[in-house]
Amino acid sequence: MRVGVDYYPEHWDKSLWAADADLMKRTGVKLVRMAEFAWCRLEPRDGVFDFSWLDEAVALFADRGIDVVLCTPVSCPPLWLYEKHPEIVHVEKDGTPTRLGIRSHRCVTNPVFLQYADRITIEMAKHYAGNAAVVGWQIDNELEAYFCYCGHCIDRYRTWLQEKYGCLENLNRAYGNVVWSGEYSSWAQVTPPFGTLPHAWQNPAYMLDYYRFCSDNVIDFSNRQAAQLRQYCPGRPVTTNVWFCEHMPDFYKQFDGLDFISYDNYPATRLPSDPESCYSHAFHLDMMRGVKRQPFWIMEQLSGGKGCWAPMEKPPLPGMIRGYALQAFAHGADTVVHFRWRTANIGAEMHWHGLLDHSNVPGRRFREFADMCIEANALEKLQGTEIKADVAILFAFDNEYAFRIQPQTDGYYYMEQLQRLHRAFMGLGLNVDIIGQHEKLDGYRIVCAPEMYVTDAGVVERLNEFAMKGGTVILTTRSGVKDPNNNALMTLLPGPYQEMAGVHAVEYAPIGWEAVSVLFGDGTELQAKQWCDILETDTAEVLASYNGDYYCGAPAITRNACGQGQVYYIGTVGTQPVYDRVAGMAAEKAALPVVAGLPPRVEIVTRTGREASAKFIFNNDDQPKSFVMDGQEISLAPFEMKVVLI
Ligand code: GLA
Ligand code: ZN
Repeated sequence: MRVGVDYYPEHWDKSLWAADADLMKRTGVKLVRMAEFAWCRLEPRDGVFDFSWLDEAVALFADRGIDVVLCTPVSCPPLWLYEKHPEIVHVEKDGTPTRLGIRSHRCVTNPVFLQYADRITIEMAKHYAGNAAVVGWQIDNELEAYFCYCGHCIDRYRTWLQEKYGCLENLNRAYGNVVWSGEYSSWAQVTPPFGTLPHAWQNPAYMLDYYRFCSDNVIDFSNRQAAQLRQYCPGRPVTTNVWFCEHMPDFYKQFDGLDFISYDNYPATRLPSDPESCYSHAFHLDMMRGVKRQPFWIMEQLSGGKGCWAPMEKPPLPGMIRGYALQAFAHGADTVVHFRWRTANIGAEMHWHGLLDHSNVPGRRFREFADMCIEANALEKLQGTEIKADVAILFAFDNEYAFRIQPQTDGYYYMEQLQRLHRAFMGLGLNVDIIGQHEKLDGYRIVCAPEMYVTDAGVVERLNEFAMKGGTVILTTRSGVKDPNNNALMTLLPGPYQEMAGVHAVEYAPIGWEAVSVLFGDGTELQAKQWCDILETDTAEVLASYNGDYYCGAPAITRNACGQGQVYYIGTVGTQPVYDRVAGMAAEKAALPVVAGLPPRVEIVTRTGREASAKFIFNNDDQPKSFVMDGQEISLAPFEMKVVLI
């Protein structure tokens, strides 16, 4: 595992740089990322470039054998640019321009902004093309698919719709605009969702397209930057760093155009006390590996207590710096870059702590980081080893957007059922992939397809085929509900999945925070919440029925033989034990090599390679844990990661 740090030479007096680089070298740091917010120093005046300070910093690292990833600094345009062209600013939903003083407040579709962004990017790319220390590029920083309400975005949205629908009649039909007299009679009437009312008041078909449009804008921007970097600084892989934010672009589409995915990983330092909480960093890491089905990077990794715009949080507990970095490696991150080397003494983020504190005196966290670096470098032989999974979970950005647009019931959110299924299979000691719904399913034994809400006919067909050929599919409630426009299908639920599931819903009850119990065939009673499909079986067998409310006795969870395979249908939102139970049944039937008796919050990932293979056994808890595996007692301290070569 390669360890790096995020470094901001522009924040520090030059007298500190060499000592920083020396300490990095001594500690075992192999890479630094720089310059993502440094536009005002790289182009201090319009068309006047100054790379000399960055050259010096790059050279200091290169001299010490430390590689450099540079960033296009385009998320923070300098104030001279705003002064000349105030129109490049992002516009809020009430129509007012975002006020200056923060970051990422430019509109990535604005042609003037693009002209300036192109120029600084191309200048930087040309300048560093011959510098072998620069081994890769990060585009921008945490690009989000924000809604921008500027005039330019409005025009672009109209063009996007014209390309998709051709004429207003098609658009009106696709959106069902007759409702509330919303039919467009001219393109000029098409606007983004202005105003402060919740988006649930808007037409869901229109809103889903609007989310897709905003995602496409970001993707166009990252593709544009990638093309420039590849042309003027060839041979360096290009990425951008992502996180799980409110407005995620469609990562699967976005990273089709980029060389690798990188993720900003800030696990919680205060663990939730509720054992039912969906807390899991492993889920996010597995999802990142699944975006390109390749190893990925952590571009920013937890190093100190979080804080700044929010009150400060606890620092990483002893064991977390090492444990979380090795956890990322276990799940497929071959490079882990810690944010940040030293806590800033200036600026809005001075309370978001790095490895070193304001004092610059190495402390507990730094010592743990230094030990981890030694260990990470010793894991070299596991670099590039594969994480082979029998179990996959499908993810779709259409569903992510559609559930944000129309919350289904109190407390319901898209990721929950995915996370619970992930946790259930990880709890059996199995590797789990999280992949885009359009990926091939070859090689998997079990595919979880939770909440397949916005229907894609190709995906339905592939899942059906997968089951027919002997695979196990786990479907859940809220599947087959919508057509690709986000309009409701006129069919019994689960829509086009009915036949493979062998079951249909006669009614559904969104119960929000209420609870209902479900009774399994062997008398086990478990709790469910939020949603109840009241089912009737066609060909499926009943695994559990509701044990309360007016639908008491109706099937809640079923299993159907479909060709040579099996299709489970979970018609409710269970508490964690419901998913644990279904996952256990499915894994047993598929004869997967499960590890019995793993304590909660202990996870095992297996990485296999030709030369070396290992089990990564991690205790993601603040309590010690022990269990028996292959006849051997394994004891883990809080946040301990054991790497066992196999
Ligand atoms: C994000 C950003 C960083 C920094 C950190 C912590 O991940 O990418 O620039 O703001 O959060 O605050
Ligand atoms: Zn805009």
